[in-house]
Amino acid sequence: MQFPLLFGLLLTGTLYSQLELAEGSKILAVYAFPGKSHFMMHTALIRELVESGHQVTMVTAFSLEKEQLGSNYTEILIEPVYDFWHDVKLNFGAQHLFELTRMTNYDFLKMLEIIGLKTTEHALRQPKVRSLIHAEQKEGVFDLLLAEQFYQEAFLALAHLYKIPVVTTSTLGYENHMSQMMGLITPWSFVPHGFMPFTDRMSFLERVKNSYASFYEDMDRLLNYFPKMDAVAREFFGPVLTEVPKVKHMERQISVMLLNSHAPLTTARPTVDAMVPVGGMHIYPPKPLPADMQALLDGATEGAIFFSLGSNVQSKDMPVEMLRLFLQVFGSLKQRVLWKFEDESISQLPDNVMVRKWLPQADILAHRHVKVFITHGGLFGTQEGVHYAVPMLGIPFYCDQHLNMNKAVLGGYAISLHFQSITEEILRHSLDQLIHNVTYKENVQRVSDIFRDRPLEPRKSAVYWIEYVIRHRGASHMRSAGLDLNWFQFYLLDVIAFVAIIALAGVMALSLAIRLLMGSNKKHRKAKQN
Ligand SMILES: *[C@@H]1O[C@H](CO)[C@@H](O)[C@H](O)[C@H]1NC(C)=O
Ligand SMILES: *[C@@H]1O[C@H](CO)[C@@H](O)[C@H](O)[C@H]1NC(C)=O
Repeated sequence: MQFPLLFGLLLTGTLYSQLELAEGSKILAVYAFPGKSHFMMHTALIRELVESGHQVTMVTAFSLEKEQLGSNYTEILIEPVYDFWHDVKLNFGAQHLFELTRMTNYDFLKMLEIIGLKTTEHALRQPKVRSLIHAEQKEGVFDLLLAEQFYQEAFLALAHLYKIPVVTTSTLGYENHMSQMMGLITPWSFVPHGFMPFTDRMSFLERVKNSYASFYEDMDRLLNYFPKMDAVAREFFGPVLTEVPKVKHMERQISVMLLNSHAPLTTARPTVDAMVPVGGMHIYPPKPLPADMQALLDGATEGAIFFSLGSNVQSKDMPVEMLRLFLQVFGSLKQRVLWKFEDESISQLPDNVMVRKWLPQADILAHRHVKVFITHGGLFGTQEGVHYAVPMLGIPFYCDQHLNMNKAVLGGYAISLHFQSITEEILRHSLDQLIHNVTYKENVQRVSDIFRDRPLEPRKSAVYWIEYVIRHRGASHMRSAGLDLNWFQFYLLDVIAFVAIIALAGVMALSLAIRLLMGSNKKHRKAKQN
């Protein structure tokens, strides 16, 4: 009798009893956007949740079958994978991604909206997703909805249907338009828009451009994008909901947002507790390399260069002259080169260069001989480079890549090149600096130490906040009251107008008094003269 009582007391008396409440929760995850890099974050998160004892049902663009997540993971696979690059080519006339460097940021925004709408519709059309929407039993089936913070807002209606809180994951990290959903003010004076090639220190002209881009996006979302996404939500949720909530309303109900960013890779900016930086979630302790790569890197006594342009930009699509230029420079180096190149039968490959369709990027970067990482500057790759303290040569193409590389250049651990203007001399000089000039390595080591220094490891932090939202059935206590104000109240325009009117009334009263006084004076004088 005593023993169980004591045990029970211990259990309820500690914080752990509370933590256990959220154990074995039923989570619905909707990761329908078929972007390979996005799944680096999703896969890590789902794995961590399942390993923490939760049951996850995932609507997914890619199968996680090879992750072997066991019986607590249920997959609703979207088939076939939606080919959104087809839409990009159709709408913007780009043949391959090397041409995207010529696209404007406004085109990019338009592109994201198009592919967001198309992939959302594609997923919602799937019979298995429809059965989720039309299921008879919805009470108590799920405890939480996990969704991506990326042009997929119609899925938020699932949370409304199942009456569950929402946690979103933002693969791009912080974005300026998030202030609208979290009820805060993001100063465009020092917070650069995610697609602008700026840092947090902007010149006057840059601030003009930054403000325009941020304002343009806010207005475009409100007036152009949301109505379209609302129509998609209405089409698929209309039959089961008497009133489908507006996207603008649903995105303001998000409990917690997990952001793929972390200091010092993101600049200081206003935030709320519900925005949790978990950048680097996809980085695990290094695994052993395949034997050939291990041998190549072990033997690279002069150092090695790792070259990858990520999963979207394919090195094999590179214009031939540029390809020849890279091979020419690589061939003349004492360092060995590992290149992620999709066509392994490349001709005239120098002896010191190894190409592979696929390479375990993070594990390679972890090798002590890797001296330079040539990258397109994607967020996931940049985080890995920083984590393992490898100086970078950036060749950014689009979206946030310019911003990421600018930040790295400013941090003194990268050199960034414009793809179209790379010459043999520029490439040779940049590599030589990154390999031999110790300042780059020293800087990246310092940034790396800061990036790794956290109260809680990123995957643990993500799971903690998800369980927190489940435990408290949402996080309305963290929600900014600013979300319920009118825009003119939010920006204090009513108060400013009030003060201005009082001031104006004061000035008017004063001038009236002066005029009256002078008038009576004049009369007085006139009367005297007469
Ligand atoms: C699946 O989840 C249940 C409930 O949380 C848990 O008891 C069980 O151990 C889990 N099974 C596996 C294989 O992890
Ligand atoms: C090393 O790099 C720093 C930063 O770019 C530069 O100021 C310095 O001149 C370089 N040193 C040499 C010897 O090239």
